[in-house]
Amino acid sequence: MRYTLTKDLETGNAIIDQEHRELFQAVERLMDACGKGQGRSSMEPAIRFLLDYVDKHFAHEERIQQESRYPNLTAHKSFHTAYKKTLRDIVAQIPPSGPTVTDLGKLNSHIAALVSHIRTEDKRLSGYLKQK
Ligand SMILES: [Fe+2]
Repeated sequence: MRYTLTKDLETGNAIIDQEHRELFQAVERLMDACGKGQGRSSMEPAIRFLLDYVDKHFAHEERIQQESRYPNLTAHKSFHTAYKKTLRDIVAQIPPSGPTVTDLGKLNSHIAALVSHIRTEDKRLSGYLKQK
């Protein structure tokens, strides 16, 4: 497993952490599909699942923030919105023959951006929820 929810990435909010674990599993599935060296069509289920899961998870986090009147909601939400768009753009560029080295590089650095968002912003959200 290249992407796992290590201790330092846990926010302390059980629901959010569980969703992050599933998110990483979806990323792993996509990376495995990429690594098989097959065409794009064989990756399609993993792509679809990841895009859907990201949408679902971000929407859930935004709902939690709305309900708890989280003061950083606007900034957090705009990260989510931009993230979803870039993720879609990256996967849309994958040609039918399968991902190029450039595609894989873009995908990996976009996932790294999510890991760092979890480490900073999602932890901040969880800290806020704890002291409510
Ligand atoms: Fe988030």
